[in-house]
Amino acid sequence: MRTKAAILWGLEEKWQVEEAELDAPKAGEVLVKLTASGLCHSDYHLVSGDIPIPFPVVGGHEGAGVVVGVGPGVTEVAEGDSIVLSFLPACGRCSYCARGMTNLCDLGAAIILGPQLDGTYRFHARGENVGQMCVLGTFSEYTVVPVASVVKVDQGTALDKAALIGCGVPTGYGSVVNTAKVRPGETVVVMGVGGIGINAVQGAKGAGARFIVAVDPVEFKRQKAVEFGATHTAATTDAARNLISELTRGQLADACVITTDVAESAYVGEALSLVGKRGKVIVTAIGHPGDTTINASLFEMTLYEKSVHGALFGSSNPQHDIPRYLEMYNLGELKLDELVTKEYALEDINEGYQDMLDGRNIRGLIRF
Ligand SMILES: NC(=O)c1ccc[n+]([C@@H]2O[C@H](COP(=O)([O-])OP(=O)(O)OC[C@H]3O[C@@H](n4cnc5c(N)ncnc54)[C@H](O)[C@@H]3O)[C@@H](O)[C@H]2O)c1
Ligand SMILES: [Zn+2]
Ligand SMILES: [Zn+2]
Repeated sequence: MRTKAAILWGLEEKWQVEEAELDAPKAGEVLVKLTASGLCHSDYHLVSGDIPIPFPVVGGHEGAGVVVGVGPGVTEVAEGDSIVLSFLPACGRCSYCARGMTNLCDLGAAIILGPQLDGTYRFHARGENVGQMCVLGTFSEYTVVPVASVVKVDQGTALDKAALIGCGVPTGYGSVVNTAKVRPGETVVVMGVGGIGINAVQGAKGAGARFIVAVDPVEFKRQKAVEFGATHTAATTDAARNLISELTRGQLADACVITTDVAESAYVGEALSLVGKRGKVIVTAIGHPGDTTINASLFEMTLYEKSVHGALFGSSNPQHDIPRYLEMYNLGELKLDELVTKEYALEDINEGYQDMLDGRNIRGLIRF
């Protein structure tokens, strides 16, 4: 079939919205009609090269929609089902899945390779095979994905809102609740208030943190953070350090989640200087692939028992967590509507990414 998709053909290029040929789903795959897709910063990393992926590629990994066809052997979902796409597939059988760490499933190795799990391509354009970001490619009216990436949700779910539960919500919220394991009364710093950081603020509030300090150079972001539960804000980490020291009588924060546009190595040292004894620094933002240095005081790390911890998809288990976040939304315990600053047509995707880079959006959303 034919579908309209946003394809990236090379580094530092614009997304090209064009007609592509989409193959029928093979065994274990599902044909999905997308309702909406979020504009996460990770797809911009394809443009900048911070996430190395072969070109051309259909972008997008934060989406929700409806099943319109299934390949041979698929029994988990059927035509007409409402689904959220998890940006990480999970097999349910590998050693990591068996231990309840489905975000670390062996299938995750495929998400930045391009082709589907069997090594062949479903999208084709201009006579070339086209890969799919995270084996999804949600910047397309239709896509074919592994059933391992599909999470069935209740019929009647507001799929435009649910799209953000495919990445931003679990990544931010989970970084605080699952990875940092923040407890009531603790002090949390969120460094960078975009689509991920704002959900880290929600997670800190949900966990019962006493002080939630949001750090972002953009004033609009700091205002939004307060609307989502931040108790204090700062424009720089230096300002944040003074503030947190005062608030905590010198004990400093219990956790600092790095959700900046890129995880620069210097940020890890800055974050470590904001947390106190047993303080945890959670690296959720994506670093430059070639960057192998962290500048930090190892002396303090030992004497204060500080730690640095990576977080992938907020250490979530998508099949469990995605429906749970929707239930929280339905009960009024999780904000989703307010996450979307502006909606775009697929044709305006480059404008959407420019708005993200200019600090105008918490999250931009493509509505199909
Ligand atoms: N680990 C994961 O599973 C995972 C999943 C999705 C996204 N990510 C990554 O998370 C990061 C954030 O994504 P996003 O979509 O929220 O991006 P975004 O562009 O929407 O937000 C980034 C924010 O960081 C702020 N910022 C920049 N430099 C800063 C600094 N020095 N101090 C404080 N704030 C600063 C910006 O003003 C902006 O508000 C990206 O690197 C993205 O690739 C990781
Ligand atoms: Zn994402
Ligand atoms: Zn697995």
